[in-house]
Amino acid sequence: MSILFEPLRLGDLQLSNRIVMAPMTRSRATHEAVPTAEMVDYYRQRASAGLIIAEGTAPSADGLGYCRTPGIFDSAQIAAWRQITRAVSQAGGRMVLQLMHTGRVGSWRNKPAGARTVAPGSQRARAQVFSDQAGQVDTDEPRALSLEGIGEVVEHYRRAALNAREAGFEGVELHCTSGYLPMQFMAAASNPREDRYGGSVEHRVRFPADVLTAMASAIGAGRVGFRLCPGNPYNDIQDDDPVATTAALCRAVEPLGLAYLHIMRSPLAELDAFALARQHSHSGLILNDGFDGPSAQAALEAGQGAAVSFARHFIGNPDLVQRLRTGAALAGFDRKTLYTTGPRGYSDYPNLAQAPATSPCYRS
Ligand SMILES: Cc1cc2nc3c(=O)[nH]c(=O)nc-3n(C[C@H](O)[C@H](O)[C@H](O)COP(=O)(O)O)c2cc1C
Repeated sequence: MSILFEPLRLGDLQLSNRIVMAPMTRSRATHEAVPTAEMVDYYRQRASAGLIIAEGTAPSADGLGYCRTPGIFDSAQIAAWRQITRAVSQAGGRMVLQLMHTGRVGSWRNKPAGARTVAPGSQRARAQVFSDQAGQVDTDEPRALSLEGIGEVVEHYRRAALNAREAGFEGVELHCTSGYLPMQFMAAASNPREDRYGGSVEHRVRFPADVLTAMASAIGAGRVGFRLCPGNPYNDIQDDDPVATTAALCRAVEPLGLAYLHIMRSPLAELDAFALARQHSHSGLILNDGFDGPSAQAALEAGQGAAVSFARHFIGNPDLVQRLRTGAALAGFDRKTLYTTGPRGYSDYPNLAQAPATSPCYRS
């Protein structure tokens, strides 16, 4: 049997197979950042993944940047997430929650009144976000965090990790890429600070290292992972030395003994992100980006990592694990409904067994 279907332990997380569902923002939460009934169906349908990493979720109201993305900072959100983790658990699955603070990549239109857009500095990202009221809008000019403000953000993450456990998640993943707050600190171009959070690479990785340390002390290091994509320019971020940044962050958090590092391929052709992660981290590696069944199997057999995560294939194939096991064809998905509301193009993709009767016939 393929190594993909062998069980795996990552820290305190026990996976029944090595096929991980990667986090995907799908904008199906309410305007109050509360998960919905459609999300219960969607995640339950995908419970056969060895681990589901639920979509980027804000640790605080300030951390919300996009419309209809969920939070984990109030009791209504915790209660709604509990419905999801319970449904997935009853279907035999397990979940961790990705914590995503978008920092300067956000609009006040997508935040509750009183919430702020914060970042290491006050320079705006040359990026736009979608809002339901006004369509594509420029991101806000952020407010530069004070030292005290940084401490508050770290505390929000710590509390969010505890909230995630209360909501039934097995652990949390810190989103450290795609131009969001941790990466805004790590990349010199978006971090003009002259205090202990800016300047040298050791200073620039201090913010994500502090967050990971706080979350590990709250819920146990074996329940905390982090996600990196060295050199990812998404959302106007520029890291001039992604090798040094990755090495420094891994070095800073190595003593914690975190559950896993979720490592994406680098968009820089000359940079082998998986080899870089193996060199600098002793945490189990979840490999991501562009895999199909055969290439995932080959990567694990070659010892490149411990598990492989799939994002887009999980959109149209709720039973992706079964399809990979049997070699069945993979369905595509409809791009137009990625971030719309309601079940269409979200929780109405059929399993193989249901396909002939109900297939909406999406193609990628
Ligand atoms: C619709 C969509 C939403 C995504 N949202 C997130 C997210 O919330 N957090 C994150 O870390 N990555 C996010 N990603 C990136 C995926 O997790 C993944 O890294 C990427 O799609 C490449 O993997 P794949 O080739 O298996 O699709 C998203 C991708 C897609 C297609």
